Formats: sequence, C-alpha cells, structure tokens
Amino acid sequence: MSSLQQFNGRSFSLAGRVILITGASGGLGRALALECARAGATVALCGRNGAKLDRVYDEIVAAGGPQPAIAKFDLATATAVDYDALASTIEREFGRLDGLVHAAAMLGDRTPLEQYDVPTWCKVLHVNLTVPFILTQVLLPSLRKSADAAMIFVSSGVVTHPRPFWGAYAVSKSGLEATRELWSQELEGERNVRVYGVDPGKMRTPMRAAAYPGEDPKTVPAPADVCGAFLYLLSEAGRDAADGHYEAQ
Ligand SMILES: NC(=O)c1ccc[n+]([C@@H]2O[C@H](COP(=O)([O-])OP(=O)(O)OC[C@H]3O[C@@H](n4cnc5c(N)ncnc54)[C@H](OP(=O)(O)O)[C@@H]3O)[C@@H](O)[C@H]2O)c1
Repeated sequence: MSSLQQFNGRSFSLAGRVILITGASGGLGRALALECARAGATVALCGRNGAKLDRVYDEIVAAGGPQPAIAKFDLATATAVDYDALASTIEREFGRLDGLVHAAAMLGDRTPLEQYDVPTWCKVLHVNLTVPFILTQVLLPSLRKSADAAMIFVSSGVVTHPRPFWGAYAVSKSGLEATRELWSQELEGERNVRVYGVDPGKMRTPMRAAAYPGEDPKTVPAPADVCGAFLYLLSEAGRDAADGHYEAQ
C-alpha cells in the first residue's frame, strides 16, 4: 500500500476531462468536485439533494470553471430505470467518461453486531457497496470510450485496521476493496481504464463528526487538503500509478 501524500497541495491538469463524482453535495465529494473543476474538468455532480448540488454548481460557475452537470440520484432508492437514464445521459451529453469517483457513503450505526439494526445493515451495504458496483457496470461503456479513464473507489482505514462497532460500514468498505480488485483484474489489458481504491484518511466532514462526536474538528484536515492525491490519479500524470489501494495522507 502506498501513500499519495506528496501530491496533496499540488494541482494536476484535468482540462477536457469529464468526471462523475458521487456524493458531490458534501464532504469529500464536494471538495473534489470544486478542485476537479478548478483543474479544468467538466464535473457531473451526482447526489440526492438538489439544493446542495445547485450550490456546488453555482460555486464552480462563479469560480470560472467549466459548466458542470447535475445528476440527481438517490443511491438508496435508485432503480434500474434510473441507472440506465444516468448512463444514457452521460453518453448523450459527453460521449465518454474520463473519471468516476465513488465518494458517496453512509456511516450507519456504530453499535456491536449483536445489536446492529438489520434494515440499517442492508441499506449501508446497498449504498456503500452494491451501488458503486452497479454504477461502474452501467458507466463502463462510457469509460471505455475515454483515451485515459480512471475510477476511484473511496476506501477507509477500517479495511486495513478493522475495529469493533463499525458494523456494516466496515464490511461494506472491505467488500468495496474486493470489488475494486475484481474490476482491476477483469479489466487488465485495457490500459485506458485505471482502477484505484483510495483511503482519504480522516477528514473534517459530517461523517467524521458523526463517528467521533467528541473530537475537535479543528484537529482534523479539511477534505480539500487531500484532493491533490485524487487529482493526481485522475490526471494524465496518474498513469504512472499502477492499479491498487492507496492512502491519500
Ligand atoms: N470523513 C472521514 O474522515 C473519512 C475517512 C475515511 C473514509 N471516508 C470516506 O470518504 C467518503 C466521503 O465521506 P465524507 O466524510 O465526505 O462523508 P459525508 O460528509 O457524510 O458525505 C457523504 C456524501 O454521500 C452522500 N450520500 C449519502 N447517502 C446518499 C444517498 N442515499 N444518495 C446519494 N448520496 C448520498 C451525501 O449526500 P447528502 O449531502 O445528501 O447527505 C454526501 O454528499 C466516503 O466514502 C467515506 O466512507 C471518510
């Protein structure tokens, strides 16, 4: 496992690239959307909250970035029709996809397995694990049309260091890493589609605050602080990075 820490604080050109980011309404996904647009990418903002997505859209336009697209999509409830519509829209509007970042996730309960709420377990596994698999499957034809596409599954430290009471979140992220590895092996030989897992490390976001309510947020890096690692992988420079699992800090 390698650290990409040296790339944070740096920028990499994403000019002309089309990048879809889930969870673009907040936390890491929002920070990545702003930084990718600043680096020249056309960003498809995927999220469930239209008002929050509109604000990110406006920030990008106000900063002079390429006009983004909004893909309103509730990952918990989307059906086959919604996935097909998203894939068709990307294909029709852009004709290809150069980057796909699976940043959206939900924390679920922080309780012992003995008491873990089963419906919550199912929802967390669906949103964090099954949805990135489906989205990758339906968007793969567009990724394949790119000269140089990168997909990033946002991972977590609970994969390498499992801890009690992280429940479905820990299981979903371990499964996501396995999914990432399968995609990587199955796409081996298609060097125009790179596949990464990235553990962003701790970041000052609503998810972190929910997981560590007693922590002083000021002691935790902002999501923007780790974006350089992601931009590196999404850019042409990232072609130097082999498929695999990386740490952003
Ligand atoms: N924060 C950390 O310290 C940390 C550490 C390791 C890994 N991570 C990982 O980093 C990624 C980003 O986390 P974060 O800290 O930025 O979390 P966050 O602040 O809670 O943001 C999560 C994002 O996912 C979206 N989302 C959740 N459920 C959704 C659904 N059903 N449909 C559509 N969108 C949904 C949220 O949308 P709404 O705005 O609508 O809620 C939000 O945009 C996650 O994969 C997380 O596991 C975070």
